[in-house]
Amino acid sequence: MSDIQRVAAAIKAAERILVITGAGLSADSGLPTYRGLGGLYNGVTEEGLPIEEALSGPMLRRNPALCWKYLAQLGRACLGARPNAGHEAIAQLQQLKPECWVLTQNIDGYHRQAGSPPERLIEIHGELSPLFCQSCGAESSDLVRHLAGEMPPKCHDCGGILRPPVVLFEEMLPEQAIDSLYAELRKGFDAVISVGTTASFPYIIEPVIRTRHAGGFTVEINPALTDLSPVVDVHLRGKALDVLQGLLSHISGD
Ligand code: APR
Repeated sequence: MSDIQRVAAAIKAAERILVITGAGLSADSGLPTYRGLGGLYNGVTEEGLPIEEALSGPMLRRNPALCWKYLAQLGRACLGARPNAGHEAIAQLQQLKPECWVLTQNIDGYHRQAGSPPERLIEIHGELSPLFCQSCGAESSDLVRHLAGEMPPKCHDCGGILRPPVVLFEEMLPEQAIDSLYAELRKGFDAVISVGTTASFPYIIEPVIRTRHAGGFTVEINPALTDLSPVVDVHLRGKALDVLQGLLSHISGD
């Protein structure tokens, strides 16, 4: 049996499945990843700052124009591209499996656009819209208009500075997302598929380790090796777009 057939058999037999996604899934849409080849974090900004400092909560407070310069770059990249067949394959799996959840680190909103049910989607780093005012809380959903306008974007009602509901560096994770993740983890998963992530955070590594220790099936889809590679049952080396499409065609038998 080939690796892909082994994975397809395990996913077919699984009821509760967690698909963990990172920037590598959206790389096939043309978006930059953060680490590795061509990653956003490899260099420093024009101002000579690490990007993690430019995209941090303290920077948004201290120098909102600088932070928004890089937020706008991310926003334009996401708005300029669209979900790919990898996102669609994951949404298809969620249709086939009513207890298949997605835990994404991506803020591009592509899982929603590709048809993943929002009630089974945990966006652990938030997402790019709707913007909200840091002073009065007013929401503003027209990201395209704000990205084309003055920087930093200002609140129409009170003139305060707007921000997206993303988790910037040195900020806390959204409580509701964390609660939802751990509520589902407590129920356990039969299988976890890690797609396109370096698995740089404990809340990304933990679901894989816990599932393996509980006897579940663990898979990684990534052209490169990561810290998870030695841990998982199968590492499918390849692009998420290709591997996920191949996997779904095995699972749905077409
Ligand atoms: N298909 C699958 N994986 C890919 C592809 C592809 N076409 N191209 C690259 N990759 C892999 C890389 O090998 C790497 O392991 O995607 C991974 C991207 O890793 P990162 O850039 O570190 O992205 P991610 O793991 O999502 O980062 C997590 O870090 O700073 C935070 O908020 C940021 O959400 C991000 C988080």
